[in-house]
Amino acid sequence: MESMISTLPKIEHNKTDFMPINGTDYVELYVSNAKQAAHFYRTAMGFKALAYAGLETGIRDYESYVVIQDKIRLVLTSPLNSGTTIGQHIDKHGDGVKVTALWVDNATYAFKEAVKRGAKVYMEPRVEKDDFGKVVRSGIHSYGDVVHIFVERKDYNGVFLPGYKKWETQYNPEPVGLKFVDHMVGNVELGQMDVWVKFYEKVMGFKQIMSFDDNDISTEYTALMSKVMSNGNGRIKFPINEPAPGLKKSQVDEYLEFYEGAGVQHIAVATDDIIDTVTRLRDRGIEFLRVPDTYYDVLLDRVGEIDEDLAPLRDLGILVDRDDEGYLLQIFTKTVQARPTMFFEIIQRKGATSFGKGNFKALFEALEREQELRGTL
Ligand code: FE2
Repeated sequence: MESMISTLPKIEHNKTDFMPINGTDYVELYVSNAKQAAHFYRTAMGFKALAYAGLETGIRDYESYVVIQDKIRLVLTSPLNSGTTIGQHIDKHGDGVKVTALWVDNATYAFKEAVKRGAKVYMEPRVEKDDFGKVVRSGIHSYGDVVHIFVERKDYNGVFLPGYKKWETQYNPEPVGLKFVDHMVGNVELGQMDVWVKFYEKVMGFKQIMSFDDNDISTEYTALMSKVMSNGNGRIKFPINEPAPGLKKSQVDEYLEFYEGAGVQHIAVATDDIIDTVTRLRDRGIEFLRVPDTYYDVLLDRVGEIDEDLAPLRDLGILVDRDDEGYLLQIFTKTVQARPTMFFEIIQRKGATSFGKGNFKALFEALEREQELRGTL
């Protein structure tokens, strides 16, 4: 485990890409109770204990638990006293994503390139060292209070980052087959989508690979617009949503109201066997959005032949969509914290490179039924 990162093969980047990114390094959530959140991610979602920082490692004002499943690392951080910036973040937003960390070969170069192009500085490049080597990290602001931290770890062999110790535990539930972060979606305020599309284009060198408007994504009540930004090698994909005017409050409006601003709406995690993964997640208590059963009556007419049997898909509520390149299977959890804000998507791609546009309508109607129960539609 310790040497996982350093043994990965070198990744080839396009020479003209001024922001080469190898992948998602970690995602850090600020949460009100990191210890219990870590238990949730291990018990219910199949992550393993990886690392810890806090009082026992000489940190006095916060603690962080790091959990891992294949290439996905989540850092769960809580303050240890009042009046901290972490505490203020939680007071305003509830539990949510603070950091999307991007794995790069040179965190100083990435930072300079981004700042030169207009990024707001979050963290100047800093070298962090311990007995296992050194890591360079730097950071810039994105939408809302979300930040991107560039992580350069080619000279590091420790368990996570300097300052963390290995989290020793007897309790390591079976994984559920989650492999890597496929994409992370941001919700931004009305009129802000194109602002952040430009940010990712100009500052990060991303390209827009897809867009949806209210003709694609609308129900009787609500609508949203979305543009998908991708880095040069396609390993990082950030769809950005903004609400579109509808008859009632959209799910993006509800998010923005409860999160009190822009933020990460969902983290999509990939699996090679969605039926097995979702079965395990359901057995461990994860709740998913359900579309009406009639969805499955016309599914094969819509998407054509697929490898999977229809029965388990119908039983578990897994959705299917097809594009020019293949098909994908996906399902969305209900929101995973007190506020109706962030949730997870489980996705298995069988050639498809899109995001399930054909499911949006059925899905949003399912979301609206949940909103109706909360009285926020
Ligand atoms: Fe998604």
